[in-house]
Amino acid sequence: MTKRIFIGVAWPYANGPLHLGHIAGAGIAPDIFARYHRLKGNEVLMVSGSDQHGTPITIRAEQEGKTPKEVAEHYHKSFVDSLAKMGISYDLFTSTQTDNHQEVAQDIFLKLLDKGYIYKDNQSLPYCESCKRFLPDRYVEGTCPNCGFENSRGDQCDECGKPLNASELKNLRCNICGNTPHFVESEHYLLRLSAFNDKLLSWVEQKTHFRKNAQNFTLRLLKEGLHDRAITRDIEWGIPVPVPEFGNKRLYVWFEAVIGYLSASKEWAASTGNADKWRDFWTGDCKSYYFVGKDNIPFHTIIWPAMLMGYGDLNLPYDVPANEYLTLEGKQFSTSRNWAVWLPYYLEKYPPDPLRYLLSINMPETNDADFSWREYVRRNNDELVATYGNLVHRVLTFTYRNYDGCVPEHGEYDKLSKTLLAESSKTLVTVDDLLGRCQFRAAIREIMALAQKANQYLDECAPWKKIKEDRAATANILNVVIEVICCLKTMLYPFIPFSSQKLHSLLGFDDKLQDHGWTINRPPTGQKLLKPEPLFAKLDEDVVKEETEILLTSQREAL
Ligand code: MF3
Ligand code: ZN
Repeated sequence: MTKRIFIGVAWPYANGPLHLGHIAGAGIAPDIFARYHRLKGNEVLMVSGSDQHGTPITIRAEQEGKTPKEVAEHYHKSFVDSLAKMGISYDLFTSTQTDNHQEVAQDIFLKLLDKGYIYKDNQSLPYCESCKRFLPDRYVEGTCPNCGFENSRGDQCDECGKPLNASELKNLRCNICGNTPHFVESEHYLLRLSAFNDKLLSWVEQKTHFRKNAQNFTLRLLKEGLHDRAITRDIEWGIPVPVPEFGNKRLYVWFEAVIGYLSASKEWAASTGNADKWRDFWTGDCKSYYFVGKDNIPFHTIIWPAMLMGYGDLNLPYDVPANEYLTLEGKQFSTSRNWAVWLPYYLEKYPPDPLRYLLSINMPETNDADFSWREYVRRNNDELVATYGNLVHRVLTFTYRNYDGCVPEHGEYDKLSKTLLAESSKTLVTVDDLLGRCQFRAAIREIMALAQKANQYLDECAPWKKIKEDRAATANILNVVIEVICCLKTMLYPFIPFSSQKLHSLLGFDDKLQDHGWTINRPPTGQKLLKPEPLFAKLDEDVVKEETEILLTSQREAL
């Protein structure tokens, strides 16, 4: 039976190009999941977009002497380009700048207001005398009351992850001028999170399939008890609060950004010519997955579910597979210190699949993971090229040369061959199960272990010797390995789609691999192969030195 799968991916702030940390946190994983489900014949809707409001954008605009809109549109274009080149197969990647998004966000606000889940109150918000402005979120820093971290932001502590109100911080500082802001009363709307505490608690307690990081963290916040939170701000950049006397206030970026999942689904539906089609993915039998980095967990396990509960009739998240962080050469990615490998840079020089491979086999799924150029070159050369690429290349060139460029006939298989083929079918089932449960790292490790076994089989059977005495037995050996690489190309398609499609063509298919489904679709006897070409290129060891040098130099220049 076909299933419906909604995939929401965290919306990156459009305040700089994407770097490897972005796609390692949320990017590669949802794409693997989407491609896997499409192969399974399930109906998938995967959406995201650029988060164009919020202080990250206004800070960047001030630095660059541009308007927030110019900055956001510039980086949005850059996102679309990088994501396409990486092969992230969104059904829609939009932005929070559309009229549609504004309408949907304001509608949710008004409905929650109408139902009493949003109410007006006086809020004391930090105001900087010397800057003459209210200081939103990231313009205030101070000490976190929860963990003592000294550079916590006004909305959330980066160290312990707890969502905060600026008034809870100690040693408050204005981020622009360093002065101590004071609190000035102003009217705001608050989201009545306290009303959802119990409901959320029993909901999360049932989520036994959540990863431990998301579940434990969420349970802790719920057990401590939720506070109502202001969801409007005294700023100019953002979506206007749809209440006349609040005309110069804006919706808080987090309240509005998560609504993007719904507004993007509506925009996608309209683009298909069936404006109601979004309902297939938001009501009834559909599982919704939200792929986010760990700093985004509470917004997807508490705030967005609370908003959906309040709004009513729409599906709550089924799972929030949150990744931990990726570090770069042992240190945290940092835009301001220019410690990053930017995607546009990477994609100018290297193909997408080796990076997709590395970020999958070394995914920060349950622990932080590190990207280093040394590791990149090693995994490319020792694993993609040596283990998988060579297996494919050896068997294809040998077959091509000795059997007129066609898949030869095979007879009854011997025991060793049957064992490997059984192993291959078994791996397809294991990987199916792992991918269905979002265990991407374990899945790709199983796949590579099968490639390793096929190499051992090939070495043991040595068709290059056997061909001199027994062509039929040799044809059997080649057929066995061809069948295994067909299994590999299907299982690897979600991870490294470009190479899988290339292999599919080399095997003589002239259609799309994704149309064949989650099966071992081997070429029929006699199918003409294309002239073999290597799937991957070996990288020179000098790349490590060169790229590390570039990284260090650009960091020095940023200081
Ligand atoms: N822009 C936010 C960030 O980068 C994430 C927003 S996710 C959303 O942390 F779903 F709320 F859009
Ligand atoms: Zn100031």
